[in-house]
Amino acid sequence: MAKLRVAVLISSRGSNMQSLVRACAQEGFPAEITTVLSNNLEAGGLKFAAENAIPTRVIDHREFEAREEFEKQITQYLEELEIDLICLAGFMRLLTADFVNRWRDRILNIHPSLLPAFKGLHVHERAIESGTRFTGCTVHIVRPEMDNGPIIVQAAVPILGDDTPDSLATRILEQEHRIYPLALKLMAEGRIRIQGPIALIDGAEQPIRSLINPKLEEI
Ligand code: GRF
Repeated sequence: MAKLRVAVLISSRGSNMQSLVRACAQEGFPAEITTVLSNNLEAGGLKFAAENAIPTRVIDHREFEAREEFEKQITQYLEELEIDLICLAGFMRLLTADFVNRWRDRILNIHPSLLPAFKGLHVHERAIESGTRFTGCTVHIVRPEMDNGPIIVQAAVPILGDDTPDSLATRILEQEHRIYPLALKLMAEGRIRIQGPIALIDGAEQPIRSLINPKLEEI
């Protein structure tokens, strides 16, 4: 079966992109990273992509007066490459509803909290300050509202007494690198069925509608 053609959009470090590239390199993985696209020429992740023989492209948002023009360039590039799925991985530009609807159900995002809690920025500070015992990370289908959309996979991470935003971010990032490849695999296998705000997973042993801290063998 043909592999799902994936574009990963990054703005800086790109460690999640790297976890996706590594997963796709495994034999039999049902997706391939066709391109890594960045709005920022300085994004560290571009070097890793190039070293791994993945075509890269920079489309600098500052060169466009309107967000729509910037996104038009992105769509044109992704259409040329016949991309099936977009994975946002630390891509720090808000997307218009037009763009999201053009790629409806074909954009994934990873966010470092247990959505719908702590949308937006500075999530680790806010989680610690809130007194919550658990936070984590979420991979979801993108909808026009920021950090919103059907949840595919989540991982929960406890907040420890001596956690700083940095120490918490480090532990959450480890989980991000596990769940993003897993969500991509589920998408590529065509096992995600979207019903309104909910993503159902086909073929799971039990009729679960979402997974928390899943292990690959459980699905
Ligand atoms: C990650 O924490 C991700 O959840 C958030 O931005 C960060 C990007 O990190 N959206 P990286 O560039 O993937 O290393």
